[in-house]
Amino acid sequence: MSYPTDRPRRLRRGETLRRLVRETVLTADDLVQPLFVVPGRGVRREISSLPGQYHLSVDEAAAEAARLAGLGVPGLILFGIPARKDETGSSAWDDDGEVQRAVRAIREAAPGLVVMTDVCLCEYTSHGHCGVISGGEVDNDPTLELLARTAVSHARAGADVVAPSDMMDGRVHAIRQELDREGFGQTAILSYAVKYASAYYGPFREAAGSAPQFGDRRGYQMDPANAREALREAELDLAEGADMIMVKPGLAYLDVLALVKRTFNRVTAAYQVSGEYAMIEAAAQQGWIDRRRLILETLTSFKRAGADFILTYYAGEVAGWLKEG
Ligand code: PBG
Ligand code: ZN
Repeated sequence: MSYPTDRPRRLRRGETLRRLVRETVLTADDLVQPLFVVPGRGVRREISSLPGQYHLSVDEAAAEAARLAGLGVPGLILFGIPARKDETGSSAWDDDGEVQRAVRAIREAAPGLVVMTDVCLCEYTSHGHCGVISGGEVDNDPTLELLARTAVSHARAGADVVAPSDMMDGRVHAIRQELDREGFGQTAILSYAVKYASAYYGPFREAAGSAPQFGDRRGYQMDPANAREALREAELDLAEGADMIMVKPGLAYLDVLALVKRTFNRVTAAYQVSGEYAMIEAAAQQGWIDRRRLILETLTSFKRAGADFILTYYAGEVAGWLKEG
């Protein structure tokens, strides 16, 4: 039997009824806020490519973390912009680097907050690539040791979760092994397992000063045309010991997110990246879209597709909205 017996509209009559039958509910518990940590003190400088997001010195990052915790945001992920870049990105594993000091300060300012760190070299290398260069190419295996060293340095500072975003083969294994050897068996790995070579990272690269100085990242990040390959990447990272996996970018890859979640049924995150944020902000600024509704609709779509949590530049703001109800 179908119409006129079946009338799906019966369950759409009024917000209370819709609330009762809703399949997916977005809460503050689903959100992780990215923060950009820069050298200095008392620095809180708006990022031109990400209006509403800030470059924060360690002290300001700690204050921001406390504010986010107060809003009910459960976690944040730190990106560092170092004072000094070199060929190998050696500032990345400096125990007194921006990220490492920020982790310690945030631990104090907001105990209980889940502190994640992005593990990559592109913000730290003079050439802007995610690994060391030999013969004009990013050399996979020598990069692994540097990533592992960076992850251990973050763990030593007190990070709960390290999140490798470099897309080198074997990096989850290398990081897990080194963490365990150094006594950080409880530090979890969130792998950017399925990360596409995407034009959506533009505003981030401007914010992090990490645009590659030659070539592009297509030799290590995934081809946007590939979904079956996403399953292979996720499978490998889980086998290597990833505790959680991520699909990135978000909105243009909801099919991949749903496929990965359905296939492995493991904790799977989505990253609403800088270009997605920039597009919403730009359209809102023009008055072409209802900003708040669009943000909530988009984040809900990530959850509906299967995300267990979402890395989003809107985490703090949305948690605030959800709090006011
Ligand atoms: C570092 C890294 C990038 C992002 C997260 N980690 C940039 C890149 O790979 O070029 C992108 C985040 C965003 O665009 O919001 N490898
Ligand atoms: Zn990188």
